[in-house]
Amino acid sequence: MGAGSVADFGHAPAIRAVDGLELAAVYDPTPGKAATFAKNHSSPLGTDDLAAFFAAGFDAVTIASPAGAHLQNVVDCARHRLPVLCEKPIAMDDAEAVKLVTHMASADLPLMIGFVYRFSPVASQIRDWIVEGKIGEVRSLRLIYDWGLHGRYAPNAAGIWGENPVWQGRMQEGGPMVDCGVHFIDLARWWLDSEVVRQSVAAAWVADYEAPDHVYAHLDHANGVHTMVEMSFSYGHTVREPAPQFSYDIIGTGGTIRYDRSTWRLELRDGDGVVVGPSASEKGFHEMYRAWGNALRTSDFSEIPTGEDGLRATHIARSLTNEAIARR
Ligand SMILES: NC(=O)c1ccc[n+]([C@@H]2O[C@H](COP(=O)([O-])OP(=O)(O)OC[C@H]3O[C@@H](n4cnc5c(N)ncnc54)[C@H](O)[C@@H]3O)[C@@H](O)[C@H]2O)c1
Repeated sequence: MGAGSVADFGHAPAIRAVDGLELAAVYDPTPGKAATFAKNHSSPLGTDDLAAFFAAGFDAVTIASPAGAHLQNVVDCARHRLPVLCEKPIAMDDAEAVKLVTHMASADLPLMIGFVYRFSPVASQIRDWIVEGKIGEVRSLRLIYDWGLHGRYAPNAAGIWGENPVWQGRMQEGGPMVDCGVHFIDLARWWLDSEVVRQSVAAAWVADYEAPDHVYAHLDHANGVHTMVEMSFSYGHTVREPAPQFSYDIIGTGGTIRYDRSTWRLELRDGDGVVVGPSASEKGFHEMYRAWGNALRTSDFSEIPTGEDGLRATHIARSLTNEAIARR
């Protein structure tokens, strides 16, 4: 449900590539969009008719609509007794997010949140190194993603420059900390297996949107570790040659782990030297669908990001963003 950008570059190619999964049908309310999408991704049905979509017959639904539509999509799926993989952020506010999660739980239906970063071989390797104590006790995480969201200005189909619709649309979901920051908040909770117990925020408005577009979150975990998340949608948003930054630093008593997306290099440095980890993108759509398919087949959902994970990350990101707006 939702035949937009992330469905096109992430979900549909992964569903088609993973053994045992098929893209059975596509729904999008924008007239003609699902039909074109279905044709491009070799699916037998693409429709803007909700009843025709659910009549197609399938075992699970991916929700890749904008955050404001997730709850209604989930309610429709639950009515048809279908498990759901829902994109993040799960909803536009806490009340809606809780409704979404409790709706699936009370219907006793599986709900997976699309925290796709967890499934990258890079993130799995980092978790293994942390759990094995390879850098001693972890004391600090520094997770940075500064980019310009494809640029604030872009030419349209006629070559006329104007404000990039992608920029406007993405800022409406709550800005960078809510939109992308939830991935980092989820990674920190998952890597450390420790809940966030205190949080604070600092923010800047580089472009003039309601939500801050460059945000720093400071999170203290129950186990004493500190996480800093820096997220920007306005880093180089008007420059000709943007140079985005994406990195993970994990700082321990006995070493450091660093991942730099510009080179896909993951390395662990300790008293013995340098160990190089898998070279991969920060996202793992294929791995995520392998895990989701296995979970659905075996009914073992222990390796799957839960509704509660979605609630926690969305709550932290939204409350920090709201606090920054109130203080502006
Ligand atoms: N995990 C990731 O890597 C990642 C990347 C980008 C976006 N996202 C998330 O995925 C979601 C979609 O983002 P996008 O960039 O693809 O947006 P998009 O605007 O490109 O696509 C959204 C699609 O949903 C459709 N839609 C609108 N209302 C709908 C409804 N009620 N039911 C079904 N479809 C509906 C729209 O017509 C559009 O085609 C957002 O929540 C976004 O935050 C995740």
